Amino acid sequence: MAETKLLLRALSGETLPTPPIWMMRQAGRYLPEYRATRAEAGDFLSLCYNSDLATEVTLQPIRRYGFDAAILFADILLIPDALGADLWFVTGEGPRLSTITTEEDFAKLKGADDIHDHLAPVYQTVSNLASALPEEVALIGFAGAPWTVATYMIAGRGTPDQGPAHKLMQENNPLFEALIDRLTESTIEYLSAQIRAGAECVKLFDSWAGSLKSEAFTKYAVAPAKKIISEIKDRHPGVPVIAFPREAGEGYVGFAKETGANCVALDNSVTPEWATEHVQVDSCVQGNLASSHMVTGGQALVDETRHIVQAFKNGPHIFNLGHGITPDANPDNVQLMIDTVREG
Ligand code: CP3
Repeated sequence: MAETKLLLRALSGETLPTPPIWMMRQAGRYLPEYRATRAEAGDFLSLCYNSDLATEVTLQPIRRYGFDAAILFADILLIPDALGADLWFVTGEGPRLSTITTEEDFAKLKGADDIHDHLAPVYQTVSNLASALPEEVALIGFAGAPWTVATYMIAGRGTPDQGPAHKLMQENNPLFEALIDRLTESTIEYLSAQIRAGAECVKLFDSWAGSLKSEAFTKYAVAPAKKIISEIKDRHPGVPVIAFPREAGEGYVGFAKETGANCVALDNSVTPEWATEHVQVDSCVQGNLASSHMVTGGQALVDETRHIVQAFKNGPHIFNLGHGITPDANPDNVQLMIDTVREG
């Protein structure tokens, strides 16, 4: 049967008259219904591990806006949690984790095959969604890329420059690489289980790829993505992968070819014209409206949305923001963006 979901058609390389659209962090604090469900769950992590409520918040933006894809509600830091690192979220500040800086810390982590019991509620959410979603809406699973997840595990929190991770890479490279390998194996296991539960596509978030340069980018952003994607393709032929090496700049060039990704997600530091010439020639692209437009709205939002749609119209394109929507965004601006993309 011919594929009818627009997102999957774009991912298979089709150029569509109107690009499919979804939004990073589409289930999030800018939506009053999300804030209500999160309050019911108690805290963010309890929401991630409550399959019924995680299903509900995943569906909220689909009901409100009719996006072409739903992204599983979970977090990239559930993998460290499943590996046995302590994880908690400080309201208004972000994640905190026990740190991995010595061989003793690393030795306490579980193996990649031992994560599934802990993550079973997430797989249940995926399976709930696979039956609950409208038939035209694609279901995206996801994980963090090893480098990005490692930056949080090494520092024990988010860092502006990923300094502690770069330091470990320099000062104890065998330990750093052992952590990258453990995360690579765990990510393969995790994404594979999401696909078995019903995810139709998976996305790999490398939010801090931009701080890796030259050889380090090749070793710790390209190589792990290539390994994860080739293993996913072996186990699940036909399931497309979106890679997001955020702020990779020139590193975006050739990224799809080198890793086997079907689509490269772009942040808004690159222009659509540049990306058409250098990235869309190899694969579908996703992006890349600045998320600040969801706060400011108005004619500038409309103009920039049209500009992006026009620039990418001669090749496969999925419309999205360049990064996640922020809590101060106005939900009406999201509707304006969608209407502009679909105005034809
Ligand atoms: O996109 C979606 O709607 C799916 C769910 C999703 C979340 N986080 C929910 C979330 C996804 C795909 C992520 C990915 C994620 N998580 C990334 C990579 C993408 C990116 O934004 O760069 C990263 C780096 C994380 C780690 C993380 N989670 C941080 C640093 C924070 C705190 C910062 C913040 O925005 O509060 C989170 C919390 C988080 N993850 C929230 C949501 C909806 C906010 C939690 C809340 O409700 O308080």
